[in-house]
Amino acid sequence: MTKCLSCGSDIEKFMSFGKMPIANGFLKKEQFDDEYFFEMEVGFCSECKMFQLINQPEREQMFNENYAFFSGTSKFMGEHFKEFAEHVRDDLVLEKEDPFIVEIGSNDGIMLKNFSQWGIRHLGVDPSSNVAEVARANGVRSIVEFFDKECAEKIVAEDGNADAFIAANVMCHIPYMDSIIEGIKVLLKSDGVAVFEDPYLGSVIEKTTFDQIYDEHVFLFSALSISNLFETHGMELIDVEPQETHGGSMRYVLANKGMREVSPNVAAIFNKERQIGLDKTETFLIFKKNCEDFKEKLNDLIKEVRGKGGKIAGYAATSKSTTIINYCGITTEDIEYICDTTPIKQGKFSPGAHIPVKAHEDFQKDYPEYALLFGYNHEKEIMAKEEGFMNSGGKWIVYVPEIMVK
Ligand code: SAH
Ligand code: TMP
Ligand code: ZN
Repeated sequence: MTKCLSCGSDIEKFMSFGKMPIANGFLKKEQFDDEYFFEMEVGFCSECKMFQLINQPEREQMFNENYAFFSGTSKFMGEHFKEFAEHVRDDLVLEKEDPFIVEIGSNDGIMLKNFSQWGIRHLGVDPSSNVAEVARANGVRSIVEFFDKECAEKIVAEDGNADAFIAANVMCHIPYMDSIIEGIKVLLKSDGVAVFEDPYLGSVIEKTTFDQIYDEHVFLFSALSISNLFETHGMELIDVEPQETHGGSMRYVLANKGMREVSPNVAAIFNKERQIGLDKTETFLIFKKNCEDFKEKLNDLIKEVRGKGGKIAGYAATSKSTTIINYCGITTEDIEYICDTTPIKQGKFSPGAHIPVKAHEDFQKDYPEYALLFGYNHEKEIMAKEEGFMNSGGKWIVYVPEIMVK
């Protein structure tokens, strides 16, 4: 039996995705022999409703000076985080005098640069020094640290209490939630708010987007699991707002119990989550079967295309693609290379399967017959710039919302 990372109850794992490498661990040939793998198993806690990884690599193995994900590579995400920042400024801290905003997982400053431009006091906390360097160059005040209770105490000693704690796509990365929530409580003024968004369990279950499961994502949250987790620390869920990003995310707003009005959205989402079974173990057994079917169907399609002699390139070396590629057993026989716009990934090889990662220019210079769209969460942005590929007769292999050629 394993203990739930959220509430400490016994939980049972319901599925293994097999041996997995570090999802953002793009590597050079000489590093192949030392590549780290772990058994990627998942479990569901029927007590607190938290979906979680059973084992996660050490945090320093994932977040360090070579972190490969730079938030600023997507223009759409830049617009999304501007809207997030405006919401915090206009709806949550507007009436405060000299508000102070702290973001964790602030990465290259994609969100906080807005506060910086508005002259609002802010601080970013991110342990990956390479991305934090970029944030600083963008005029964003940043410290290179893992946020936890101790880090919060240091911030308060230097800058005072914060009006808002914000985060995107990082809360679900952190297994030591008790220290994080205690840190949030230390950090915030008594009427402060915590606002964060992460990939949503409801979307993963509905669309079988199991590629949201990888080393960094130790949790996939729902409103039910977030409410249960924060409740034990005297905080309550006061609002939720679904987001389109990352194939379906949820934004959660939390405050100290009784300090702010609770939106009717909260009761509505609890009802919806119970309706789609996010509170029941059986739902995850169906999900497991759906993942197995996905693997078979995607492999069949790739074999069919390759059988006709069509060359396939992967499009966007997303962290999510590491799960698809390694779970489905996709090899360099299937996909010649993956193109990606991130310089630190180019010239390296994908984690586990060691598929070469090339620059986007290489794709444009010599189009393949097919492109397997790993970056489906950026589909609109990508389609808009790949008319040349489609005009050359190129076809997309997509797997969200379903597996097909288009
Ligand atoms: N918020 C950005 C980046 C998400 S990637 C976006 O949504 O695009 C996750 C980031 O969280 C990485 O930059 C990683 O270094 C950082 N991170 C991981 N653990 C952390 C912790 N304990 N405290 C603060 N940041 C953390
Ligand atoms: P994400 O899915 O985790 O946001 O990762 C996005 C990855 O996709 C990142 O490596 C950059 C890459 N990318 C491209 O290669 N081309 C594009 O047009 C976009 C938007 C992203
Ligand atoms: Zn639990």
